Amino acid sequence: MPSLAFAVLAPFFFVILFICKKSNNHKSNKNLPPGKMGLPWIGETMEFYKAQRKNLVFEKFLQPRIARHGKIFKTRLMGSPTVVVNGGEANRFFMTNEFKLVISSWPSSSVQLMGKDSIMEKQGEAHRFLRGVIATSLSGVGLVAILPKMCRSIQIHLDKCWHGQEKIYLYRVTKILTFTIVFECLLGIGVVGGVLGKFERVLEGVFALPFEFPGSKFSRAKRARKAIEKMLIDVVRMKREEMEGGLDVGEEEGMLLSRLVAGLIRGEISEKEVVDNVVLLVFAAHDTTSFAIAMTFRMLAHHPHCYSSLLQEHADIMRNKRPGENLTVEDTKNMKYTWQVAQESMRLFPPIFGSFRKAIADIEYEGFTIPKGWKVLWTAYGTHYSEEYFREPTTFDPKRFEEPVQPYSFIPFGGGPRLCAGNQLAKLNILLFVHYVVTRYNWSLLHPDEPITTDPLPLPSHGMPIKISPKL
Ligand code: HEM
Repeated sequence: MPSLAFAVLAPFFFVILFICKKSNNHKSNKNLPPGKMGLPWIGETMEFYKAQRKNLVFEKFLQPRIARHGKIFKTRLMGSPTVVVNGGEANRFFMTNEFKLVISSWPSSSVQLMGKDSIMEKQGEAHRFLRGVIATSLSGVGLVAILPKMCRSIQIHLDKCWHGQEKIYLYRVTKILTFTIVFECLLGIGVVGGVLGKFERVLEGVFALPFEFPGSKFSRAKRARKAIEKMLIDVVRMKREEMEGGLDVGEEEGMLLSRLVAGLIRGEISEKEVVDNVVLLVFAAHDTTSFAIAMTFRMLAHHPHCYSSLLQEHADIMRNKRPGENLTVEDTKNMKYTWQVAQESMRLFPPIFGSFRKAIADIEYEGFTIPKGWKVLWTAYGTHYSEEYFREPTTFDPKRFEEPVQPYSFIPFGGGPRLCAGNQLAKLNILLFVHYVVTRYNWSLLHPDEPITTDPLPLPSHGMPIKISPKL
């Protein structure tokens, strides 16, 4: 009986083996990087997800493969043959060859929820133009205009969420603040009840499987996206009316919504582009900045001598201030050590672990061929945790940032044409927030070793409860 079953099934096995072999040796005349493609379609997706969920992408996924195959290896993730690249040189090569050899590649759910007209889907000249509009508000004079508004928002936030409390959830409340900063200070849109909740629904679906059935994360996210779209269209049309009627001065004040609507009036961008990019900016800024802030506080709590140095820096800044006087750009330039602490925290806990690209041509790199259509994944861990770039990489040592680091080795904000457009705003947000908290509150972690989980971006699993008391 078993031999009969074998005789019947054997041809199917051979066909499947042949297909797998063929797909693994895709373009077999080319020298593909080493590595295992795993099972057909699914590849090593489960191993990757499992590691990501526990925030152990480096330890459980990257490190063993780098040890086995080297810094450039192939695998298959979510149905796509993928080459994972590690190291400063590889980061530079793939990041700077955006639009020439690779383009960014987001899952279908992200594209549907952010919108096809957001900056992350734009390529070449269209990307350059849109980035110019957005970046004006996110750097230089744009940021100088935003700074006093951010100081005000942070102080209101502390009065509302911290004042009179003995315990708060740092990560959760910081999310409310970063949302308010993007919406009110950067875009110039008033936050109305329920809108944050709707954005959070959308963000929950950004990396979910794009299946629409009642109760699925993706369906909920799509519904929330529709509601946000409706609300934003009203806001954009109202702003347009005001601007055409000569009522609005927001553009001069650096408000990004006014800049986008000015582009709309001049016929340079469409209404959908305005809406999609507002959604994208909230997505890009929200969980990332909150996580960076949370990890900065966690590391300060774990390293009291670093906290003492940081407190000294803020005491020095306060010494030259009158009571209630706002911080200035000059003050933030004097927060050098605070920024080193934040950088070191992002090195060890990058808010974005990496990003996918798609090869738009056959790519020759380091003697290997990456066939057109394959995915390329760069990861922050691949350099942040490497002895080659950072001495004793698992040690928390903010002072290492006193010296310049090797180009493209410290990449929490990515690099090349897709370098995070909001990196200066994120820096300002972190510095200002740390200043107001450490000069006003005593605080300590309630779960010093709270696990970090990923859903879909990393977060402290209990929302980071801390004990607080006002400084007298
Ligand atoms: C600590 C906080 C942040 C981190 C770690 C971070 C990280 C990143 C990374 C790694 C990328 C590149 C993704 C890629 O190469 O595919 C990126 C892109 C981007 N980020 Fe951020 N980000 C942060 C905060 C912000 C903020 C506050 C904003 C704006 C309000 C922002 C806006 C953007 C935009 C618009 C892009 C797309 C750039 C483009 O495609 O040209 N980010 N961010």
